[in-house]
Amino acid sequence: MSEKKFPLTKARLEKLVERYPTPFYVYDEQGIRENARRIQSAFSVFPSYTEHFAVKALPNPFILKILADEGFGADCSSYPELLLAEMSGIKREAIMLTSNETPAREYLKARELGAVINLDDFTHIEYLEKTAGLPETISCRYNPGPLKEGNAIIGKPEEAKYGFTREQLVEGYRLLKKKGVKHFGLHTMVASNELSLDYHLETGRLLFELAVEIKNRAGIGIEFVNLGGGLGIPYRPEQEAVSWEALAAGLKKLYDEILLPAGLGGMALHTEYGRPVTGPYGWLVARAIHKKEIYRNYIGLDASMADLMRPALYGAYHHITVPGKENAPLTETCDVVGSLCENNDKFAVQRKLPKIDVGDGGDFVVIHDAGAHGRAMGFNYNGKLRCGELLLRPDGSLVQIRRAETVDDYLGTLDVWALREFDAHFSGRL
Ligand SMILES: Cc1ncc(COP(=O)(O)O)c(C=O)c1O
Repeated sequence: MSEKKFPLTKARLEKLVERYPTPFYVYDEQGIRENARRIQSAFSVFPSYTEHFAVKALPNPFILKILADEGFGADCSSYPELLLAEMSGIKREAIMLTSNETPAREYLKARELGAVINLDDFTHIEYLEKTAGLPETISCRYNPGPLKEGNAIIGKPEEAKYGFTREQLVEGYRLLKKKGVKHFGLHTMVASNELSLDYHLETGRLLFELAVEIKNRAGIGIEFVNLGGGLGIPYRPEQEAVSWEALAAGLKKLYDEILLPAGLGGMALHTEYGRPVTGPYGWLVARAIHKKEIYRNYIGLDASMADLMRPALYGAYHHITVPGKENAPLTETCDVVGSLCENNDKFAVQRKLPKIDVGDGGDFVVIHDAGAHGRAMGFNYNGKLRCGELLLRPDGSLVQIRRAETVDDYLGTLDVWALREFDAHFSGRL
């Protein structure tokens, strides 16, 4: 069981919306820090461990700085994400670039920052060499194909576009060594939101065994293994989180069994978790503004899937509570929906909830476990403006860490001067 709590009362929200109208995200700094410390402590069984937080999950420098303060690095997947890591004070090999179909600009920026590049394909060896030059340290991403089951979100590894095949990997390391690369890492990422401990231990075994094979076949001592992300969180109250201690201890057992006899005992362990680091410590807060009763009953929010698209994209469950009505009986069955012109704009389908009051002073609706891949996946379809982000500090104060988008932001990419000329042309003035 996982408890679904929200740290702000209804009264506090009423005050808050005077300054920051709904919808908005709230992140709990204390929760994130305590979780980061649990991760660091569990993985301290390894000679060296680095968590490169997956920036894509929550791309906000306030959060990156908090995580860096707890000893985490950053895993970036694009040029702007590299900039976010840089502006958060994360340096050199604490930054990892794990991207695919990588443009030269990203490689150049990663080289400038001294970040570790994680190559996604054999052909990128030559591309990187030509565009940005080969660094002394390189990691390669492995796609195990039929050797590993994927899951619903990421798909089967065999059908995934990422990574090198096993043979390409061995060849790739040989080639990189020949070209003067000195330090090597090995990476994979084969699942997303996977809650099975055994699945993640099997991934560890796969990579540790592969590191031994690479040593035997290519004469290369892999210096770090990166297990990627993909560790799930209990979105449903009846689900259980994977224990950090059990995960780290299980991986360490495999590490000792497989790597020590092969003389690879000093190898560092890296991860690039996003979801389990911040996911449970973020909430989307919206207001219930409409109630509609047709063939089904609907509660309409002032947020939409443009603020949180996981339910629409994956049919994902996000727990919903109503501040002030946490213990009220769940007497209503309804779909909780947003205002987008898409019928899958539903935060919940046929969910049992307490009776919800709607309108200007209506109930707040809190959508849980939205601290990763939430605001970050937002978009502007239907002219929707993405909401802002607030940080609940350990002293109980709230700080805005990203403002909500405005109409000016939405229109800001249009060239208004060109538009005026265009109008003049149509009215025959040009
Ligand atoms: C390459 C890579 N690393 C790490 C992550 C983070 O995964 P998660 O947030 O599930 O931990 C992702 C997520 O898509 C990814 O693509």
